[in-house]
Amino acid sequence: MEKEIQTRCIHLENDDRSNVYGAISYPIFQTATFAHPGVGMSTGYDYSRAGNPTREQLEKTVASLESGRRAFAFSSGMAAITAVMELFEPGDHIITDSDLYGGSIRLFNTLCAKNQIEFTSADLSGDNWEHIAQDGKIRLEELIQPNTRAVFIETPTNPMMNVIDIQRLGEYTAKHGLLLIVDNTFLSPYFQNPLKLGADIVIHSGTKFISGHNDVLAGLVVADREDICDKIGFNLLSTGACLSPFDSWLVLRGIKTLAVRMEKAQENAGELADWLEQSGYAKKVIYPGKKEHPGYDIMKKQASGFGAMITFEVESREIAREVLKQVKLIRFAESLGGVETLITYPVTQTHADVPKDVLKKNGVTDRTLRLAVGIESAKNLIEDLGRALKEAGQSG
Ligand SMILES: Cc1ncc(COP(=O)(O)O)c(C=O)c1O
Repeated sequence: MEKEIQTRCIHLENDDRSNVYGAISYPIFQTATFAHPGVGMSTGYDYSRAGNPTREQLEKTVASLESGRRAFAFSSGMAAITAVMELFEPGDHIITDSDLYGGSIRLFNTLCAKNQIEFTSADLSGDNWEHIAQDGKIRLEELIQPNTRAVFIETPTNPMMNVIDIQRLGEYTAKHGLLLIVDNTFLSPYFQNPLKLGADIVIHSGTKFISGHNDVLAGLVVADREDICDKIGFNLLSTGACLSPFDSWLVLRGIKTLAVRMEKAQENAGELADWLEQSGYAKKVIYPGKKEHPGYDIMKKQASGFGAMITFEVESREIAREVLKQVKLIRFAESLGGVETLITYPVTQTHADVPKDVLKKNGVTDRTLRLAVGIESAKNLIEDLGRALKEAGQSG
């Protein structure tokens, strides 16, 4: 039987449970180390930084969901991105999309820069990619230097929800011998599988949709090429930022409901985006599930859903800040992908360390709010947001 993704969220392809007494919930092997039967002998596990059965069960599950050879579980999304950056040498150059999670930009501008990795960022989204690829306005070729090694993107991007054509970019990076690295956090493996579209490395903040309950920090790296897997595995072993057995179990438990959570959160997001627009409360609504979104057709082609992230603008900075005070059911907090709906203020939270000129260029203002839609009743979410917007003085 070929297992569909909904089934693979719950059952591995080859689920050998002979070692765990038929346990339905995979056991938490809460141990730092493993006894050896004798000199030169091993049970298959020696020390939990090098490998732990619970972490391995999670890694196998995520590798399957992303159609990769192997996955590696880290203590956070940033630890995962750091391990990927350790693939590069001083003097290497990486091209990034300009709209990225602020923490990635901070890592690139500071620690990676200290390690003498150079970065150039450009808008690689939708129509701009057409320009880049075809009419020569900002040709990607012009950004490639002899020392360029990789292109790093998110799609949809955080927070402006720009969409990048992974397949076309993948053809392009392959032609130029560059690695294509995709942070797939916003859609999760349930809606988008970048490795199948030509990416070389997929990263997730497992803190978000994959675990889904706002109760654990985690990061994942997935790749298909054996040499890349070997290097990421070595980086995990050497730097030690591995996910603990208990946290691995929490993520595994979250994944069991990934399919139903993603479907419901997306349904809610569609309703909220429509309401925000029709009510007139939002001055601008950016949701890639809207036909008018410039990335809509690319999303249809490369993903099986539009996700649950909405970015919108209100009339003034004062109103934006007041909305954050007024929401009750929706919580003002910095994260996404959980069952609880959260509202974020990118300029003071997720993107606080991004240089002001970059934010301005990307269109992130002090009127921009980001909604990470959860799985509550859409009616209640609309009631709460509507009241908060009204009390904040936003006219409809
Ligand atoms: C797109 C994206 N990538 C990576 C990260 C970093 O993940 P973590 O917070 O698990 O370190 C985040 C965090 O918000 C994110 O939104």
